[in-house]
Amino acid sequence: MDLPANSIVRDRVETLRQTLHRHNTLYYAQDNPEISDAEYDLLMQELMALEKAHPDLQSPDSPTARVGAPPLAVFETMSHSLPMLSLDNAFAAQDIIDFDSRVKKTLQTQDTVLYTAEPKLDGVAVELVYEDGKLVMASTRGDGMTGEVITANVRTIRSVPLQLHAGAFEGRLEVRGEIIMNRKGFEKMNRNREDENLPVFANPRNAAAGSLRQLDSMITATRPLDIFIYGTGLTPGLNSDSHWDVLNRLKSMGFKVNPLIRPCLTLDQVMECYRELEESRSGLPYDIDGVVIKVDDLRYQEILGEKARSPRWAIAWKFQAVQGTTQVLAIEIQVGRTGVLTPVAHLEPVRIGGVWVSRATLHNEEEIQRKDIRIGDTVFVERAGDVIPKVVKVVIEKRTGDEIPFQMPAACPACGSQAIRLSIENSDRLESALRCFNARCPAQLKENIIHFASKRAFDMDGLGEKLAGQLVDAGLLTSYADIFQLNLENLLKINRMGQKSAENLISAIDRSKKIQLNRFLYSLGIRHVGENIADILARKWGSLNAVMQQTPESLTAVEGIGRTIAESVHGFFNDPGNRELLDRILENGVEILTLPQSAGKTLDGKSFVLTGTLPNLTRSRARALIEAAGGKVSSAVSRNTSYLVAGEAAGSKLETARKIGVEIIDESALMQLLEGNLPDPSLSRPFQQGLV
Ligand code: IVH
Repeated sequence: MDLPANSIVRDRVETLRQTLHRHNTLYYAQDNPEISDAEYDLLMQELMALEKAHPDLQSPDSPTARVGAPPLAVFETMSHSLPMLSLDNAFAAQDIIDFDSRVKKTLQTQDTVLYTAEPKLDGVAVELVYEDGKLVMASTRGDGMTGEVITANVRTIRSVPLQLHAGAFEGRLEVRGEIIMNRKGFEKMNRNREDENLPVFANPRNAAAGSLRQLDSMITATRPLDIFIYGTGLTPGLNSDSHWDVLNRLKSMGFKVNPLIRPCLTLDQVMECYRELEESRSGLPYDIDGVVIKVDDLRYQEILGEKARSPRWAIAWKFQAVQGTTQVLAIEIQVGRTGVLTPVAHLEPVRIGGVWVSRATLHNEEEIQRKDIRIGDTVFVERAGDVIPKVVKVVIEKRTGDEIPFQMPAACPACGSQAIRLSIENSDRLESALRCFNARCPAQLKENIIHFASKRAFDMDGLGEKLAGQLVDAGLLTSYADIFQLNLENLLKINRMGQKSAENLISAIDRSKKIQLNRFLYSLGIRHVGENIADILARKWGSLNAVMQQTPESLTAVEGIGRTIAESVHGFFNDPGNRELLDRILENGVEILTLPQSAGKTLDGKSFVLTGTLPNLTRSRARALIEAAGGKVSSAVSRNTSYLVAGEAAGSKLETARKIGVEIIDESALMQLLEGNLPDPSLSRPFQQGLV
């Protein structure tokens, strides 16, 4: 029975929340934890247990509530108490000298003006409103006057304090900052999306914006978002006369403030900061596109005031253009692993953001037509972060009339077979992509081999892009099945392949021959079969033979497998050429480790917690495997946890598990569990011993 909480429980819950909020901020925003993860976990578990027992105490402000709220139908809008302005841009040191002169002139002073220099973060501007230290609203900038309310989404971001340190600020506090996605998280997310055949995001800023625009905050909760606070909105209670001081006060309240922000006593120091940030730019884990220079004295800011859309007390000094203009010399067609023909522009080499750019993707024919890109055109090219450069638009004024419109070829340029546009499911329209369907196309072959040998497939160390190309060009590989027939003698014929690397490759190939069914299915490069679908197939049917015998109907009967996937899988295994390849792979000693079938899933009812770095599996892979086998993964160890899977540098969760007697296993024991065997107790011993 759920009893309403009495005042003792209420007080305890309140104390736990305050304490956890404080430690959350210390950990996520300030990178300066005061307690161990284990102590934190214990507090969190106590709070979760109390909230579960007393639903009347549940609250969206609770530190337990970062998982996402029920979906919204539309975003509400709100007006900002103070407009959210944008910034004027500066592109050269002289612009900054001029800015400083304007500032001094308006202030009627000859004295040096103090500035702050801050990284200009390339993300999404947001405003957060706190009432008596509690986050009550988060909104986008919108048109500057009116923004969209995205509170539920912003609550899922770990570095956003839901509750400020006790007594940090009474009344209403408005802060502003930038929500960003770091590059690693962005790339990982895109890799997963690619595997699932979902469209990828062009850059971290778009990914951050897209993640915040989700009506379902559960989706936002899975995205690697972060925040830096760089100022306030209407907050009279702060009583400060310095921006630098405000930033420090915000930091001590629990906000994450960018550690690269510097106070500058002279204009020379501003210049120095710009140079330093530009230099460290490529090494930062997130994208920045310039330096924001702000007058530090808030009384001066007040006097300087603002123009229509931007303040007179700040300016954004942009880094060297990541856009440049150049000429399209030719348009070439690249053929990808799945046979998609992608037009690529060959450009007159141009230096953009410090690197030479000579190629840019044009995506597809529609894109070329929409932008009307012709061979010989002068174009704007943009390089966003580490992403492949792209053509933004044509400089029409530079047209001479000699430019040649481009047409996609009717045949695949690598093998000559007809290029086809598929129809979009349930519609009478055609896909924008042209494809080559020849399974033996050499261009697809190279990409297929790279995929087959890649880390998450056969994992053949050393067989990467370059070598795959060389082996195909030398005629040594005409399919991925040929990989298993490579020998030292023919490898040594490859240009610059030394004895040692050839031997290493042969032994890597040998080592890869024992492979789990799910990886095997993934490595075949069947369209629409990413890691997750490969897992589902492997778990459902347990052996290659069984998977091969399925019909589109029996395939679609499985949750997670739709018509397109079913037809692709069925089509692949019914192609005589593909069957022959499979036979050859198996004849050459590849041994597929079968998985138990999921009828009576192996991990049904079992709950797992993951900690530390596992030798082979990423967190998300391990989670997917466990879930595919019917198990659950949670983030905190409790008495209900069946197993703690511990990897290298496992932290406090390991201690907690030991304390409360949860079984600790490593990756190989997890793999055994997935295969339906009980873990060998000796496998878990090293971890337990390590802590005794
Ligand atoms: S101050 C009135 N500081 O740049 C001052 N903005 O072009 C405007 N931005 O919408 C905000 N880093 O999204 C400020 N350290 C920083 C910033 C920053 C990135 C963004 C922000 C704003 C845009 C203005």
